[in-house]
Amino acid sequence: MYLRQETSINTDRLWLRDFHLSDWPVVHQYASDPEVTKYLEWGPNTELDSRRFVERATSLSYLDPRVDFDLAIVTNAEERLIGAVSIHIESPADREGWLGYCLHRSYWGKGYATEAAYNLLNHAFQKLGMRRIYATAAPDNAGSINVLQKIGMQHEGTLKNHKLVRGAWRDSELYAILDSDFTPPRRFF
Ligand SMILES: CC(C)(COP(=O)(O)OP(=O)(O)OC[C@H]1O[C@@H](n2cnc3c(N)ncnc32)[C@H](O)[C@@H]1OP(=O)(O)O)[C@@H](O)C(=O)NCCC(=O)NCCS
Repeated sequence: MYLRQETSINTDRLWLRDFHLSDWPVVHQYASDPEVTKYLEWGPNTELDSRRFVERATSLSYLDPRVDFDLAIVTNAEERLIGAVSIHIESPADREGWLGYCLHRSYWGKGYATEAAYNLLNHAFQKLGMRRIYATAAPDNAGSINVLQKIGMQHEGTLKNHKLVRGAWRDSELYAILDSDFTPPRRFF
């Protein structure tokens, strides 16, 4: 077992940190909500699914080199875990990865996903040396598409019959951003 290279990112209102095994019941609160997982390939989670997610995220965080960054989104004000934001380095040679996020329904519409995704993107470009980060979203997942546009990603096309979600094939909108097109924050924490 390697010593974990902790990832900890402080933003204006949030703390993005590695998961702990004890986080699973709080993860389960949002991951078991069918409204939250409506557009996702996974869920709604059973308790075992939520435990396994946290166990997997934690164990992958010990790998060296680390390629999976599943981070808990914690509010500074309430010190409450409200969701997850992730970057997975798919091709270290190409310095390419994908981005994803998921929040508890009570915390939607407050700009938290945009703040978390933007700051993790910044970390990926500035600290992990990534060159290209992409994300996909269901065509009718307006909230997610708004987040991708707000963090500066460009629409690259529609992937036809991209995902098998609860027995039906659905398209995905593909968004991406290059390090050269990313505007970093003026202030670093
Ligand atoms: C998608 C999701 C992460 C958005 O999180 P959020 O914290 O509400 O997003 P933000 O508050 O940062 O919103 C960004 C923009 O999208 C808008 N928006 C958010 N949800 C929206 C919705 N359902 N419909 C239309 N616009 C929406 C916001 O108003 C905001 O725009 P504005 O700044 O111009 O007002 C959240 O709804 C969620 O967790 N959904 C379930 C999981 C999921 O679908 N993940 C994405 C998989 S691709």
